[in-house]
Amino acid sequence: MVRAGPFETLVKPLTTLGKMDDLKSGIANFYDESSELWENMWGEHMHHGFYPKGGPRRTHQEAQEDMIEQTLQVAGVTKVQNMVDVGCGIGGSSRYIARKFGCTSRGITLSPKQAARANALSAEQGFGDRLSFQVGDALAQPFKDGSFDLVWSMESGEHMPDKRQFVSELCRVCAPGGKIIVVTWCHRVLAPGESLKPDEVSLLDRICEAYYLPAWCSVADYQKLFEEKGIVDIKTRDWSEEVSPFWGAVIATALTTEGLAGLVKAGWTTIKGALVMPLMAEGFRRGLIKFVLITGRKG
Ligand SMILES: C[S@@+](CC[C@H](N)C(=O)[O-])C[C@H]1O[C@@H](n2cnc3c(N)ncnc32)[C@H](O)[C@@H]1O
Repeated sequence: MVRAGPFETLVKPLTTLGKMDDLKSGIANFYDESSELWENMWGEHMHHGFYPKGGPRRTHQEAQEDMIEQTLQVAGVTKVQNMVDVGCGIGGSSRYIARKFGCTSRGITLSPKQAARANALSAEQGFGDRLSFQVGDALAQPFKDGSFDLVWSMESGEHMPDKRQFVSELCRVCAPGGKIIVVTWCHRVLAPGESLKPDEVSLLDRICEAYYLPAWCSVADYQKLFEEKGIVDIKTRDWSEEVSPFWGAVIATALTTEGLAGLVKAGWTTIKGALVMPLMAEGFRRGLIKFVLITGRKG
């Protein structure tokens, strides 16, 4: 159970209003509102850092870049020509991978402000027309079948209401022989016939409402969906320990003067997200929330 200390007692009624806006517009609004603050405090990568064995790193930005490196390494990516960045944020992964491999990238996000910022940053950094970002839905991607040799989804899968359709679209736009990578938040793997306990469901529900995460599943569920699509060489990793310093660090930056002022300026949706951060840390501590990688190749 989430311990009902004075903070939790105060916060729960504020973050449990029992309603979510329409999912897509809710996600778009959440990132339109919060992305500038995140960029100011954390930079261009809107995802967890990789901290070997949960230990310290020189900077959190270095840990975030290492998350990309570790992911590419497990997936065995050694060259890329044309990638798609599904749920691209402000394009940090695309620019990192384009620098490393000299590839092109097309990114989609639900947030118009993120797409505009991703294009502006990429232009400023001299990528020309190699990179482009637009508003688009991962569940109905605006790309032809078999367009990309790398299909990349870094921390967007948790927002998808229909995991089967999400996996199906990732596989559709992947070229034969191409790699698909999903790094995402899952719940723990369940034994056959087991369900999440009521207190686990209520913790996830609280997080869902603040962060627009409509449908949790396990890494085993993802693996099954990819197998059903004929994806081969599937590998998975549980990096929950490697990301364990992350939420404490995010909470610490939110509590600085700059962080608090930024939250007030950003607005209520972002404040609500910040109030729920301790619940993410709690979910990881209890082994309920898992940070996972799933990757495979389209045969
Ligand atoms: C936590 S951010 C990750 C951003 C980026 N991948 C990174 O690592 O910097 C989640 C992203 O998923 C996007 N997203 C969520 N649901 C989506 C959907 N149905 N279609 C496209 N993008 C989506 C959001 O707009 C946001 O850009």
